[in-house]
Amino acid sequence: MTTPTDASFYKPVSFSETVITELMIPSYSNFGGKIHGGILLSLMDKVAYVCAAKHAGNYCVTASIDTVDFLAPVEVGDLVSLMASVNYVGKTSLVVGIKVISENIKTNTVHHTNTSYFTMVAKDEDNQPVIVPGLVLENRTQVRRFLEARRRKQLKHNYKQEADKIVMPDDEELCREMLEGERCTIA
Ligand SMILES: CC(C)(COP(=O)(O)OP(=O)(O)OC[C@H]1O[C@@H](n2cnc3c(N)ncnc32)[C@H](O)[C@@H]1OP(=O)(O)O)[C@@H](O)C(=O)NCCC(=O)NCCS
Repeated sequence: MTTPTDASFYKPVSFSETVITELMIPSYSNFGGKIHGGILLSLMDKVAYVCAAKHAGNYCVTASIDTVDFLAPVEVGDLVSLMASVNYVGKTSLVVGIKVISENIKTNTVHHTNTSYFTMVAKDEDNQPVIVPGLVLENRTQVRRFLEARRRKQLKHNYKQEADKIVMPDDEELCREMLEGERCTIA
């Protein structure tokens, strides 16, 4: 019998595709009258969780978020829709791609506010990472997204190795040289 924890168990991307639409109310706004970035992050985390947990058939946690660039401000009164789908699965982790759009219902204008990738890890009852079902890719877009997510994972690994090479020199003079041209000064 196959269960969601069997490595042979696969689910199609469409099984867990999730859309959340929320009205941007005045209490979500900052002093500038625009919607707080944190409100959008919270909604993204929510939709990522729903999508991931549905695919995993288990409780999931957010392990990392791959870049959040806010491309356009969101206004009070806008409808924000977050579209999420599983782009990639590893062993116990999966990547949820999220596209966020905001819509002005009076003018019918739509803005793409951001696209981000949440890595979620499935957990069992003992809070240990647990294997997630494989992914059935149903069209070319889903194949492309899977390949792109795998590439991002490799790049992130390379980036970490490169970033770890940055060393703090003992020699203060060398420090000053390295900081030349930067807007800082050593007191
Ligand atoms: C993320 C977490 C589950 C990793 O646990 P761990 O014991 O280090 O597990 P592992 O090293 O076995 O990694 C499990 C999987 O997570 C992935 N992973 C771990 N850290 C990751 C990171 N920073 N970014 C992306 N993937 C990560 C691993 O690649 C692995 O994937 P795979 O099984 O598909 O190959 C654990 O650190 C955790 O629970 N963190 C807190 C999560 C949380 O509370 N989130 C809410 C934030 S408020």
